[in-house]
Amino acid sequence: MTRLVVISNRVAVPKARGAAGAQGGLAGALNSALRKHGGIWFGWSGQEVDEYSGDIHVQRSADGVTTATIDLEPQDIEEYYNGYANSTLWPLFHYRIDLTEYEREFGRGYERVNERFADSVLPLIEKNDTVWVHDYHLMPLGERLRARGVNNQIGFFLHIPWPPTRLFVSLPYHERLVRSMLHYDLIGFQNDEWLESFLHYCRKELGAEVNDKTGEIRLDGRTSRAKSYPIGIDYDHFMAKGDTGKARQAQQRLMSSTRHRVAMIGVDRLDYSKGLPERIDGIGRFFDTYPDQVRDLVYIQIAPPSREDIGSYQDIRATLEQKTGQINGARSEVDVVPIRYVNKGYSQEELFGFYRAAKIGLVTPLRDGMNLVAKEYVAAQDPEDPGVLVLSRFAGAAQQLQDALLVNPHSPDDVSHNINRALHMPLAERKERWEKLIVTVREDNVLRWTDNFISDLQSAEMTQQA
Ligand code: G6P
Repeated sequence: MTRLVVISNRVAVPKARGAAGAQGGLAGALNSALRKHGGIWFGWSGQEVDEYSGDIHVQRSADGVTTATIDLEPQDIEEYYNGYANSTLWPLFHYRIDLTEYEREFGRGYERVNERFADSVLPLIEKNDTVWVHDYHLMPLGERLRARGVNNQIGFFLHIPWPPTRLFVSLPYHERLVRSMLHYDLIGFQNDEWLESFLHYCRKELGAEVNDKTGEIRLDGRTSRAKSYPIGIDYDHFMAKGDTGKARQAQQRLMSSTRHRVAMIGVDRLDYSKGLPERIDGIGRFFDTYPDQVRDLVYIQIAPPSREDIGSYQDIRATLEQKTGQINGARSEVDVVPIRYVNKGYSQEELFGFYRAAKIGLVTPLRDGMNLVAKEYVAAQDPEDPGVLVLSRFAGAAQQLQDALLVNPHSPDDVSHNINRALHMPLAERKERWEKLIVTVREDNVLRWTDNFISDLQSAEMTQQA
């Protein structure tokens, strides 16, 4: 087995963000992959320094993963992270062209930081290493490494959706970005829909020769391959977290505080792609339609803040506070508050307990690469009395989790109707659905995802030197 060099913007599990899904699937998944395969994880430290120095901090984490990180300067963070990555690519790739900002400085900052990543990681790459680059922050990195003479197998995985060609072409210099991606040997997507959009773009806009069956893309004498690899949770690791006193205490804590009411839970980064205001509207519609059930149900929304320097994230937070406040104001009694809204993260153990105590899991993003909260919710259920997953049809996970109650998150009526269905679903149907869901969650786990990607990458022909 060759050594892995994993490169992503975010390295290691950010503190107090909780389980894989809540912190964004990437960090948790890569941590698990590296625990198994060994190697180095390179990226941004999350720290800001006055002036970029290129110094690399090497650390070995408690669970045996070696990380190598660099600090970035304020201008980098502003233009690359808050700017091009999270104000240009993130909204556009989540179909939010209305929120997408196209600033020339953002593009320059993105190029600059990708060069910095390439320069810094270069001395760490050894001859037989397999290099695996992650996510939208680093799409051109493969080309930058090739330009520095790296002939190793280099793969790329996109953790977020790939937008339809008609949206994607609104990005200035879109051709340059995708051409740079074709320097990877293997390009992975979360599901077939994003893969098809990418292949369509390569054929239509770049005139590349595309084989839809094999995913081969030929352009300018080089061949890359694109394929879908749906990411999963670290099932065994998560189940071990569930088998702890801390998890049981958390379960008990939620159950005793909700008593005779059914707990329904949502756990999301505070991000407009997660459909939180729309979800609250759906819950409001449920209370309007079934006013006698206000006493039967309590909704717990855990939403740790995210990317707080960006205006659209500040706006979503304000909107959500207003909407939950409105519903609670109108529907509360002295002894009943229908929505509990919490702006903090919890540990994996605690989340496991909360998921298990909640009889309905509400996961309704407007657009999501995969969504691991959905999978964690399923994993945490009691096989004898499982809860019901209500899942957006626009989450990447919907392709695999067809036995959830699939909803259109834009429709308050559909959300309300399915909450009602979940609330009254007989035990036999709950079990039948859950037994099918758990097979996928258990089998298609993160270790299988890593193995599939790595073995395809390592068996890719060395076609890049043309
Ligand atoms: C998503 C992205 C990840 C990112 C995570 C958390 O899952 O795909 O790349 O790390 O969100 O966002 P943050 O900006 O805090 O890293």
